[in-house]
Amino acid sequence: MTRATVVDPADLSMNETPYPPLPGVRRVVADGAAALQRYPDRTSSTLVSALSARLGVGPEAIVVGPGSAGLCQHLVQSLGPRPEVVHAALSFEGYPLIVRNAGARAVPVPMDGYDHDLPAMADAVTDRTRCVLLCSPNNPTGAALRRDRVEAFLGRIPADVPVVLDEAYREFVTDPAAPDGMELYRSYDNVCVLRTFSKAYGLAALRVGYAVVPPRLAAAAALTGAVFFPNALGQAAAVASLAPDVTAELTHRCTELVASRTRLVGALRGLGVTVAPSEANFVWLPLGERAASFADRARAAGILVMALPGAGVRITVGSDEANDRLLAFVRSALAEGL
Ligand SMILES: Cc1ncc(COP(=O)(O)O)c(C=O)c1O
Repeated sequence: MTRATVVDPADLSMNETPYPPLPGVRRVVADGAAALQRYPDRTSSTLVSALSARLGVGPEAIVVGPGSAGLCQHLVQSLGPRPEVVHAALSFEGYPLIVRNAGARAVPVPMDGYDHDLPAMADAVTDRTRCVLLCSPNNPTGAALRRDRVEAFLGRIPADVPVVLDEAYREFVTDPAAPDGMELYRSYDNVCVLRTFSKAYGLAALRVGYAVVPPRLAAAAALTGAVFFPNALGQAAAVASLAPDVTAELTHRCTELVASRTRLVGALRGLGVTVAPSEANFVWLPLGERAASFADRARAAGILVMALPGAGVRITVGSDEANDRLLAFVRSALAEGL
């Protein structure tokens, strides 16, 4: 979707946070501009140490890279040579591209409603499977995996097939039945966890993500190339974001965003719109054949959303003002026969 065609659009198409960077983080980035002639620390050592302390795992388990999508591609590539990657059919739109870029073949498994069909995904794992990608909360449907179901799934996956759990939206989860990926990481030695500073931390432009990998995959996952490390400003901003006071402020913002999500879902349902339950910073409207026209009309009204034609529309929870604009649009679209 091109962003430039709408004047002052409410851009709810990219799952970005509505909040600008915190002043302390912005200062670190501005100060970093004075040393742009220098290459970044290729081992991201300060960031890896800060993450290691935060997560309670050794630094050798952490791989920092240019966004979680970049790291996902790196992982899929380095986990070869088996040819297939299993993932949910209605999941992050980047997966098919990532899998192809990594020289593998995607095996999309149909959904169970808004959820991964974990038993069917386990059935799809064969001796050709390079790894499985799980996304929780799932983009675009917003569903988080449940602990009991994912444990039953992991119990069926051969130990030599890595399961990559993409938790890009982890910080927005409130359902106590949703497992923390790090719990699973500690219990299963084939689970890799992917996280990002792009969403809850509001640093999407700086491209910083990390993977937590089990010891036996650490050597394969280590970034030995010359090109895979976040830039210096990204590293500095991520380190600043892990300071306790900054993290507390970011956590507060996540709580506010979850409250906005609850209000938005309630208001949309109050208008008679079907909205999937969401554990993320976006909502999913399963509009089916009406998805593309909804997105087109929203765009004409100055609101950008992401449509998956024939399936539905994903709408990021935005600022109060943007959410109100969206609701006003939905009200008028319904009046005209959405
Ligand atoms: C599920 C999921 N994983 C990964 C990403 C990519 O995030 P990053 O900015 O860390 O590359 C996204 C971005 O939308 C996403 O939805």
